[in-house]
Amino acid sequence: MIRMAKSYDLKPAPLNGEKADASGGASVVNRRQFLRYGFNATTGVLAASVGVLGFAAILLPPGAGSGGDLAVKYWAKGREDEAWYGAKHLQSMTREDFVAEAAKTSTGTAGAAGVWNGVPVVVNYVDHDANSSTPTSSGKARYQSMEGYDETGKYVGHFDDMVDADPRIFPTGGLVMVFGRCTHLCCIPGWQLVSNTFTEDTWTPGGGDDGGTKLFCICHSSRFDPTALELNTNRNRANGATFTYAGIRRSGGPAPVGLPLIPIQLNGDTIEGITDYMGWLTYCD
Ligand code: FES
Repeated sequence: MIRMAKSYDLKPAPLNGEKADASGGASVVNRRQFLRYGFNATTGVLAASVGVLGFAAILLPPGAGSGGDLAVKYWAKGREDEAWYGAKHLQSMTREDFVAEAAKTSTGTAGAAGVWNGVPVVVNYVDHDANSSTPTSSGKARYQSMEGYDETGKYVGHFDDMVDADPRIFPTGGLVMVFGRCTHLCCIPGWQLVSNTFTEDTWTPGGGDDGGTKLFCICHSSRFDPTALELNTNRNRANGATFTYAGIRRSGGPAPVGLPLIPIQLNGDTIEGITDYMGWLTYCD
């Protein structure tokens, strides 16, 4: 069921390296305005990369529409020009940027919206190596390899099963990249555009719907935990075929399953996407 239009307080940007104040400086956007922004952003992505084509047409390997550039670029147009990466619009993402931003948080995390190979993405950083040596009760975020169950409750498999087959699936350098289209109705969640209990700087283990640092889809309030890594299934929109993918867990809201990973590699400090799993991105038009 789709809810009626609702207004949200947009998350204000941190100033001078301070954490965001949830009560100050927020502006308001309703769901219709956000949808328009989201799809305008998409059009911008398309125009900048391969022209006015559908998503099916842009799910192509480099060299077939993206000029062969594997680097992930920040996307900070519209509301996200107020995010910590606002001045870096269309610059290549570097791991160093995320490490510096995460150091300002109590959970040791940072995230940013981006564009890669003509599609919207969200990149998250967790100081996994440092945080995984602390008790989970410390609230320091770390990656969690988990068992996955599809929307009917059927067991799909364990995340580590796929990592055993291809170690590149596991986050590289503490970074994980996901496809930025919601599995509910394909909105673009962006990065922490709203300030609420799901996006605040807190973390709890287990991939549940408690705690913050979630990726939040403003359209109908779906939540995804970028630290909870699992296997799941989804459906190719064009031919109806079901496929298994590695992704981050849906923790709440109407989205049926989580968001698929796009494995990355580091070229020096530059974050690049790997094109081997494009079939996981085919659930939207
Ligand atoms: S599109 Fe509905 S919650 Fe994301």
